[in-house]
Amino acid sequence: MALAREKRGTQMNILGIETSCDETAAAVVRDGREVLSNTVFSQIPLHKPWGGVVPEIAGRSHVEKIGGVVDEALSSSGLAPGEIDAVAVTFGPGLSASLIVGLNAAKGLALALGKPLYCVNHIEAHLHTPFLSASAPDPLSVGRMLGLAVSGGHTAWIDMPRYGEYRIIGQTLDDACGEAFDKAAKLLGLGYPGGPVIDRIAKTAKSRASAAFPKCSPRPGTDALGGLDASLCVSFSGLKTSLLYRVRNSPPQGEDEVAALAASYQDAIVDAVAVRTARALKRGGYAALTVGGGVSLNSALRERLARVAADAGVRLLLAEPRYCGDNAAMIAGLAFYRRTLEGAAAFSADIVPSLRPGAEAAH
Ligand code: KG4
Ligand code: ZN
Repeated sequence: MALAREKRGTQMNILGIETSCDETAAAVVRDGREVLSNTVFSQIPLHKPWGGVVPEIAGRSHVEKIGGVVDEALSSSGLAPGEIDAVAVTFGPGLSASLIVGLNAAKGLALALGKPLYCVNHIEAHLHTPFLSASAPDPLSVGRMLGLAVSGGHTAWIDMPRYGEYRIIGQTLDDACGEAFDKAAKLLGLGYPGGPVIDRIAKTAKSRASAAFPKCSPRPGTDALGGLDASLCVSFSGLKTSLLYRVRNSPPQGEDEVAALAASYQDAIVDAVAVRTARALKRGGYAALTVGGGVSLNSALRERLARVAADAGVRLLLAEPRYCGDNAAMIAGLAFYRRTLEGAAAFSADIVPSLRPGAEAAH
């Protein structure tokens, strides 16, 4: 395990690059936690007409924007290029057409600056986001953590016995929870991305849908579990299908009925995530729950996780809203502590679109 320590105690400025999906991002972070700049160009308007991320459009837009985004991150950090000590980049998981742009840009930049290159895992980086704050503890001092990654591409419960060690103990067997929000919003005619709008509309609901949504439990004994404990895994595809049939069989009439459906659907996702988080924490030994990913912006989920953590007697570590979605501060921050690939391995690395947390330098 590559847990970096060599520059601890002195200042280390890392420039991070993130292009795994539809955000072109660059940031400069000092010593893993102090964010000097954080530039994010969001492609949401480009993908909105299609109701989801179109990989070819994402890749092309990254190519157009990456140079300007890196320049902006560097200049707003207040540092000169010579003060950058290393470059860090996401090499997976993500969309191939997107990842490749960031990885190549990072290699070129590190070569031009004559600095080391570190490749890190995007999901591990999401779990670092609660530490990007002056009031956050040093991740090395927290003790055993449960990581919860909830985004548009991922939903996973990750055991972190020590900072820099990751083992998936539960996950979605099909859609990610952000995807479940996005698909529901499409079915309800609410636009893209779905999470923020469902979050907002659910708050206005005066009632809940007449029939409950399914519990998001995987089919017992399904091979898709791959040896994981079924009680820590979720399946969101049945939930989405249930909404599809409801909307088809009795289309909601007016804003109140749409809000009731959206709120009940959100309840089902929040409940599924919270119940599994509570179960995982019950295994014991955890000092904290660290949460990352775009869906961790969800207000109902944040409230529910606060109760889950309090009941389990663990510290809840939530990211500031600006670091919940994809960004490069989390890449530069994590790389201070952990590099999946570094040295020659980083410069010869290829993207790994299905990279799992905890994967080591076998790529
Ligand atoms: O982490 P992220 O920016 O990108 C990925 O790595 O996937 O997450 C994007 C996802 C989208 O599915 C979006 O609908 C969801 O996060 N999201 C939310 C909220 N804000 C963003 N989901 C629920 N409630 C929100 N407030
Ligand atoms: Zn992400």
